[in-house]
Amino acid sequence: MTLINLFFEDSTRTRTSFELAGKRLGADVINMSVSQSSVNKGETLLDTAATLNAMRCDLLVVRHALSGAPHLLAQKVDAAVINAGDGLHEHPTQALLDALTIRRHKGGLAGLVVAICGDIAHSRVARSNIHLLAAFGCDVRLIGPPTLIPAGIERLGARVFHDMREGLAGADVVMMLRLQRERMTANLVPSVREYFHFYGLDAAKLAHAKPDALVMHPGPMNRGVEIDSAIADDPERSVIREQVEMGVAVRMAVLDTLARARQGGRNSA
Ligand code: CP
Repeated sequence: MTLINLFFEDSTRTRTSFELAGKRLGADVINMSVSQSSVNKGETLLDTAATLNAMRCDLLVVRHALSGAPHLLAQKVDAAVINAGDGLHEHPTQALLDALTIRRHKGGLAGLVVAICGDIAHSRVARSNIHLLAAFGCDVRLIGPPTLIPAGIERLGARVFHDMREGLAGADVVMMLRLQRERMTANLVPSVREYFHFYGLDAAKLAHAKPDALVMHPGPMNRGVEIDSAIADDPERSVIREQVEMGVAVRMAVLDTLARARQGGRNSA
C-alpha cells in the first residue's frame, strides 16, 4: 500500500500520526511538501491529485483550507481519500480519536454532557464532534461569545451557552478550542486578556463541571488564551496527551479498514 500525505495547511499532530499509522501498518508513506511542489507553479488541486493518482497511490490523506476539497478529490481519483481537515467544515478522524479517549475514561458516550468551548465558528473539530457525539447520545453544549458561535448551529444537535458557568454546570467533558485567528476576517475578540477572563478555562470555571470531568483540547493549544497551563498540565484532569496517542490508533484503524476494502475490491474484480 502507498499512502500520500497531501497537506495544504500546517499540521503537527494529524500529519505525523497519519505517517506513523501508515508506517506501523507497513505502508510506503510519502509526505508531499506542498510548499516545494508544482502547486507553486500554478498547478490546480485537481491536477495535483490526478498526478498522484497516476502514480497508483492507494490512500490520499488531504488537508485543505477549502471546505469540501477532500470530497471533490474523492470523486476524481481512484485512491481512497481521507479528510484530514477541510476549512471550517470537518475533521472526522479528530472526532473519532476524541470519542475513543472519552470512552476509555467514561466507559461509553451515551448520556454524557460534553461542553465544547471557544471559537466554534472557525472549528471543524467542533462540527465533527457535534455530529459524532450527538449521534452517540451525548448532550452537546457549545459555549462561547456570540461573535464566535454561528447562528443556527443548534440545528446540528447542540445547545448554545454564552456563560461558561452555565454551560459547564454538571459537564462530564470540557473540550477547549483555540482562537483560529488565521481564519478570522474581522476582529471578533476585544482582547486576549478579556477573552481569557470570560472564556479561558481555569480552576474557578472548571469547578462548575463535575469533579471528575475530563479536560480535552485538540491542539495546538494557546496557553493563557483559551486554557490555563495549570489545567492543561494537570494529570488528574487533562487527557490532552492521551488524545494525541489515540490519534495514531484511530488513524491506523481508518487506514487498515480502507486498505482492506481496496484489497477486497481488487481481489473480487
Ligand atoms: N488537532 C489537529 O488537527 O492538530 P494539527 O493541526 O497539529 O494536525
